[in-house]
Amino acid sequence: MLVVASTLFFLGVAHATANYSSPKYPTLYPDLTSCVDAPLQYSCENTTAITNTCCSPTPGGLVLQTQFWSTYTGLEDSYNQYCDSSRNYNSSQVVQFLEDFDRWELMTYMQNFWVSQGASNPEFWAHEFSKHATCTSTFDVACYGSDYQEHQEVVNFFETVVKVFQMFPTYNMLAAFGIHPSNATTYTLAEITNALYSQTGAIPYLGCSDDGTMLDEVWYYMHVLGTEQYGHFKMVNSTTTSSCNADGIWYYEVTPTSMRPVIYGLGPA
Ligand SMILES: *[C@@H]1O[C@H](CO)[C@@H](O)[C@H](O)[C@H]1NC(C)=O
Ligand SMILES: *[C@@H]1O[C@H](CO)[C@@H](O)[C@H](O)[C@H]1NC(C)=O
Ligand SMILES: *[C@@H]1O[C@H](CO)[C@@H](O)[C@H](O)[C@H]1NC(C)=O
Ligand SMILES: *[C@@H]1O[C@H](CO)[C@@H](O)[C@H](O)[C@H]1NC(C)=O
Repeated sequence: MLVVASTLFFLGVAHATANYSSPKYPTLYPDLTSCVDAPLQYSCENTTAITNTCCSPTPGGLVLQTQFWSTYTGLEDSYNQYCDSSRNYNSSQVVQFLEDFDRWELMTYMQNFWVSQGASNPEFWAHEFSKHATCTSTFDVACYGSDYQEHQEVVNFFETVVKVFQMFPTYNMLAAFGIHPSNATTYTLAEITNALYSQTGAIPYLGCSDDGTMLDEVWYYMHVLGTEQYGHFKMVNSTTTSSCNADGIWYYEVTPTSMRPVIYGLGPA
């Protein structure tokens, strides 16, 4: 179920149109100059201690990209949450940060693809930053060096979530294997799993509701070499057993009245 876009969204879109011709793209990246000599090892697979936590996410470092049939929650680090109460931001604040960095195009994209099921979208983004990014060491303020501009790591986190989401166009990957949303035909778990496995090299978690009969979640698991911002993601098999039945899985067509523009990724429901 999609939530009607908040007023903030429409303001954002209006400005986005006006600003499209002259995006500023200010510096958002961390200062990784001290990472040059850090040993290269995938998160969760390190054989020596990770001492510079700006270079590789630690502790944790299992990256999850979760997509819901109607929404997705973004980039998550599995174990800890809410690690820095001084950076628990609210919806108005994160919208303000995006505006401060003139990232209207990013906010517009997020309004389409990073959609909340209950709260307003900006509330959801703020929640995801406060809950997850504060526990991911490579988004620590200290990693941004002496040129740190206040809140740049928040916008950098949003950019990163969008980037990782774009790596997994689930809807298109399934469609390419003849798995289309249908209210007439069901699919088997093996069909869906094989389609995604053959394109990503790992088994994602597939979540089904309605006693395992209705596909509504896909989670991709990764380890990262370097930072989430710029590093290389390696797919790893899901560590969670699918909640879907072996066959008779519905991948429903969306309700026509809830249609939104969708280019790729999981569509609206
Ligand atoms: C991996 O890095 C973490 C953080 O520095 C450290 O606690 C852990 O012992 C390291 N693992 C190995 C096998 O060295
Ligand atoms: C968000 O936080 C700011 C700063 O603490 C506060 O001024 C503002 O009223 C809050 N807004 C909402 C919607 O909670
Ligand atoms: C992932 O799971 C598949 C299917 O069970 C298996 O063939 C493959 O070896 C697994 N990959 C790894 C890295 O464990
Ligand atoms: C398909 O079925 C689902 C679940 O019953 C329903 O929500 C959706 O509106 C249906 N889609 C169409 C196009 O009829």
